[in-house]
Amino acid sequence: MGLKGRDLISIRDLSREDIEEVLRASRRMLPLAVGGKVNRGLAGWVLTLAFFEPSTRTRLSFETAMLRLGGACVTIADPASSSTKKGESLHDTTRILSGYGDAIVLRHPNEGAARLAAMASDKPVINAGDGAGQHPSQTLIDLATMHEAFGTLTGLKVVLLGDLKFGRTAHSLAHALGVFGAELVLSSPPSLALPEEVREHLDQVGAKVSDADQLHQAIRDADVLYVTRIQRERFGDDREYQKVAGSYRIDNAVLAGAKDRLIVMHPLPRMGEIAPEVDGSPHAAYFRQAALGVPVRMALLSLMLTGKAG
Ligand code: CP
Repeated sequence: MGLKGRDLISIRDLSREDIEEVLRASRRMLPLAVGGKVNRGLAGWVLTLAFFEPSTRTRLSFETAMLRLGGACVTIADPASSSTKKGESLHDTTRILSGYGDAIVLRHPNEGAARLAAMASDKPVINAGDGAGQHPSQTLIDLATMHEAFGTLTGLKVVLLGDLKFGRTAHSLAHALGVFGAELVLSSPPSLALPEEVREHLDQVGAKVSDADQLHQAIRDADVLYVTRIQRERFGDDREYQKVAGSYRIDNAVLAGAKDRLIVMHPLPRMGEIAPEVDGSPHAAYFRQAALGVPVRMALLSLMLTGKAG
């Protein structure tokens, strides 16, 4: 049915065919994303970025994607400078924004906020992170990174390491990898395990999921090590965060027994989960992953706004 005019709230909103279409289109966008070629496919279109939580990659790569395609952006980057500070509801804010630009990219601390915004908006809404919920465009980037490295997603063995309770990127990615027939190995501090609801859903889509007994062994067998930070901002009590802070760290010694082809990914920002020494290793893929945010979001915006890309 194509992506034109649709919302993207959860990765579950996309079929396997939808995702494959975005990944194909993002490969066509690669030369445009670095300015090697010019395409003004979104000239005249305006994207509204409404960010009620901090962001570097998501907001600026959406903005870059729009500008690379000749479009324009209007932005709430600091909620304190918007009328939400005066108490305006998310419903009203979204309804107003939908009267301005052609699509809305929303980041919000509350799980479910993007779905609520989509109901208030008559323009497409992209969820750029709703609390501990979902971050579907990050998942498209993650899949593009893996596809670029391996040429396929099917059959990959992916270790998800870190805060699997609050980490929205992990929730979205686990679903997509399940749909594509990758094998998931989970490793987290016990108090930050993948929520039961997400796990049950993975069973429903037939995903192959196991728990890592030994992280070292799991890394030795893996094609992808996907690391996430502990989401300190989601803890009600910072003392609970302190109990798990620093409980895992990837460095070159940990990676010593890994396959040559292993890639280490991280949605970033990192808070010490990956030692800087790994940056120089052939396994490090997280900066490439962040850079792919531009072509993937160029593809996504083109398909959602115009129904075609490139
Ligand atoms: N990966 C990601 O969502 O990064 P930002 O929080 O910087 O947008």
